[in-house]
Amino acid sequence: MTAPTLPDLYEWLEQSRRDGQVHYDERQQSWAVLGHPEAAAVLKDPATFSSDLGDLLPKQEDMELFQRGNFVRMDPPRHDRLRRLVSQAFTPKVVAGLAPRIEEVTAELLDARAGERRFDLIDDLAYPLPVIVIAELLGIPASDRPVFRRWADGLFERSNAGPDESLIRMMDDDALAAAATVMHEMNAYLLAHIRARRASPADDLTSRLLMADGDGERLTDEEIVGFVGLLLLAGHVTTTATLGNTVLCFEAHPDAAAEVRANPALLPTAIEEVLRLRTPFPRLARRATTAVTIGQAAIPAGAVVVAWLAAANRDERVFAEPDRFDAHRSPNPHLTFGHGIHFCIGAPLARLETKIAMGMLLDRYSDVTVDADAPIAFRNPWVMISPTRLPLAVTAA
Ligand code: HEM
Repeated sequence: MTAPTLPDLYEWLEQSRRDGQVHYDERQQSWAVLGHPEAAAVLKDPATFSSDLGDLLPKQEDMELFQRGNFVRMDPPRHDRLRRLVSQAFTPKVVAGLAPRIEEVTAELLDARAGERRFDLIDDLAYPLPVIVIAELLGIPASDRPVFRRWADGLFERSNAGPDESLIRMMDDDALAAAATVMHEMNAYLLAHIRARRASPADDLTSRLLMADGDGERLTDEEIVGFVGLLLLAGHVTTTATLGNTVLCFEAHPDAAAEVRANPALLPTAIEEVLRLRTPFPRLARRATTAVTIGQAAIPAGAVVVAWLAAANRDERVFAEPDRFDAHRSPNPHLTFGHGIHFCIGAPLARLETKIAMGMLLDRYSDVTVDADAPIAFRNPWVMISPTRLPLAVTAA
C-alpha cells in the first residue's frame, strides 16, 4: 500500500463532508464531525464528549502508567486539578520571558550551519529548537534528544492510519508493540528523572510539579511520569511540524513569503494561516457519554466521535475561500489548538518559537527554497501533518 499523502487526506475530507458535517463513518466505526461549529461544540462539552478513551487504549502496563498523569485524556474534575498545576508554569509572562533563550538557541543552531548553502530544516533547526526549550524547562538533559526523537517516531509513525482504520481499535499489533516499547523506555527514563529531582530539587518545572499542592493532594512520582511525558512530547513535535509547515507554505506561496519578508509584522498572522491550513493534529477523538444529537445526527451513547480539526479549519461557512493561503486572514478562528477545557497549554510558547525561528531564518537568508535535488519526507498525515525531512537550499543575506 502506498503511504497516504496530504492531498489524499484533504480530498477524503472533502468527499466525506458530502455525507454531512456530522455523519457515521462505517469504515472507521466512528462519527466524523467535519464542520467548524459542530467540532467546536463537541470540544466545548466534555460532559457529553469525554476525553477518556479508556477502553480504546490497549490494556498494557506501561500505557496505563503513562495515562495516570496524561491529563489530555482526562475529564473534570481530575483534569482541572492537574491542568491548574501546570498552567502556572505557562502564563503569558513566563512564556514571554523565554524569548531571549529561544533567540539564543535559534542563533546557535543557525550558526552551526553558517556558510553552508544546504541544510535540513528539521534536523538542524525545527526539531532541536523546541526540544531544547522544553527539555530545559523540565530540567531534562537536552543532549538526550536523539532518544526523544526515537520515542516521538515510535508513537507518531503509524503507517496503517488511513480511511480504513477502525478507531475502535486504534492500533494494529505492530504499532501497538512499537508504542509499548517506547512507553516502557520513556516511563523508566522519566521515573529516574523524577526520583532524582525528588531527592534533590532544582529550579525546573519537574521539581515544581513534585512540590505542587493541588487541592491538598500531592502528585505521586508515577502520576508525574505521564504529566512530564505529555509536556515533553506535545512540547516539541507540534512546533517542529509548524516550522516545517511554514516553510512549505512559503514555498508554495512565494508572493505571501515576499510580503512577510518586506513586512515582518505580518509574520504572526501568516503563522496562524499555516496553522489553519496545515493542522499538525488533524483530528481529536472523544467518546459520547450519553445519546446526543448534533444537527440531524443522532449519536448513540458510547460512540467514538472524531472532531476533524483539519476539516473544521476549512469550513467555508466560517472561512472565505477556505483552501486559499491568506497571510492577512483576520479573524482566523482555527481550531488547531483545540477548544474548551483542553485548549493547548503550550500555544503561546509554540507561537513564540515559530515567530522567532522563522523571523531569524528570513533575516539571515535572502533566499530559502526547498532543495529540489534532495528528498522530502512526511509523517502519515492521518496521524500528524508534518514533514520529517525538509532539505533547504539557502542564500545568505
Ligand atoms: C493540548 C495542539 C504545542 C502542550 C493540545 C490540543 C491540541 C494541541 C489540538 C488539545 C487536545 C485535545 O483537546 O484533546 C498543539 C499544536 C501545537 C502545540 C498544534 C504547536 C503548533 C504545544 C506545546 C506544548 C503543548 C509547545 C508544551 C509546552 C499541550 C498540553 C495539552 C495540549 C499539556 C493538554 C491540555 C489539556 O488537556 O488541558 N495541543 N499543541 N502543546 N498541548 Fe498542545
